[in-house]
Amino acid sequence: KIINIVLSGGVGSRLWPLSRKSCPKQYLPIFEEKTLFQKTVERNSGLCDQLMIVGNKANYELSRKDVNDLGITDYAEVIEACPRNTAAAIAFAALSCDPEDVLFVTPSDHLITSGEAYSKSVERAIALAKEDQIVTFGLKPTRPETGFGYIEAKGEEVKGFREKPDLETAKLFLEKGNFLWNSGMFCFKAQVFLTELEQYEPEVYHRSQEAIKAADNGFLDRELSMKIPSISVDYAVMERTQKIKVVPSSFGWSDMGSFESVFEYMEQHGYSADEQGNMIIGSDIHTEFVGLENTILVQTKDAILVLKKESAQEVKKVFEKLEKNK
Ligand code: GDD
Ligand code: MG
Repeated sequence: KIINIVLSGGVGSRLWPLSRKSCPKQYLPIFEEKTLFQKTVERNSGLCDQLMIVGNKANYELSRKDVNDLGITDYAEVIEACPRNTAAAIAFAALSCDPEDVLFVTPSDHLITSGEAYSKSVERAIALAKEDQIVTFGLKPTRPETGFGYIEAKGEEVKGFREKPDLETAKLFLEKGNFLWNSGMFCFKAQVFLTELEQYEPEVYHRSQEAIKAADNGFLDRELSMKIPSISVDYAVMERTQKIKVVPSSFGWSDMGSFESVFEYMEQHGYSADEQGNMIIGSDIHTEFVGLENTILVQTKDAILVLKKESAQEVKKVFEKLEKNK
């Protein structure tokens, strides 16, 4: 079977104040009145046989509502007691499936153009996964983004995987031309992933197994979960595995991860910035920028954020500060 594993554990901290702890960005009905979460589930339902959601205590009700509104009643859930990052989240899913199942792991908060380019890439990835490969999807980079993973590729062969390089390295990768952005989606057999995880991060593997064994109806225990090392799948497996392949892809993709990517998406969709590169997001109030460039103003009902586009990654700090002071 082919199972779409939808990861929905993130809080979207770099998109504050649009994204809140009480409503992370994947549950905002931003596009065509559907949430990014719903669009993810819909996009993959025709390509996969089953759906499994890996979410958490704070958001599983939002996930349930989203899938119910789509009319989907048959799906599996893993509900984390606390976020332990993506290596563990994927391990939970893999440990809950049949070892031979092909998992198509997707974030729930990306904006992707579904259509032929997307279906072709996913179908190719599934074919490679059936041959025991760990498959990534590579997209042509458009800027030296430091929040992504980079895949050094030659066709479907991967020479190297490098997660979140510093700016200088990212610029170098961009210049070299044979580096692709890692989309954050992966495809592999459950058993193939678990074997690699056990080899490279045995502690994550064993602790995740303990947590899954003790799960109550999909709900994980907090104490057991806290023992799992928090590491992303990119560092844990993708940078190390020899079984990695890439499907070079051309579908429309935005990870909506920071205001820089929202800015780029909006520009491509006809909401342009002014001549100095200033942009307003979410506000109807007449706003003028004087003496400012590459500045973004974001407004919601109860908050305003003004930022330099280059500092988009740092919005996370604001979110963290506000969470701490609560
Ligand atoms: N269930 C669960 N539990 N989901 C999680 C957890 C967790 O503890 N942590 C993160 N996620 C979900 C997020 O909600 C998101 O959908 C996805 O997993 C990826 O996590 P991010 O935290 O958004 O990762 P990233 O954006 O820094 O980096 C990844 O995505 C990039 C593309 O957007 C990497 O795979 C990069 O290599 C990649 O370029
Ligand atoms: Mg992300």
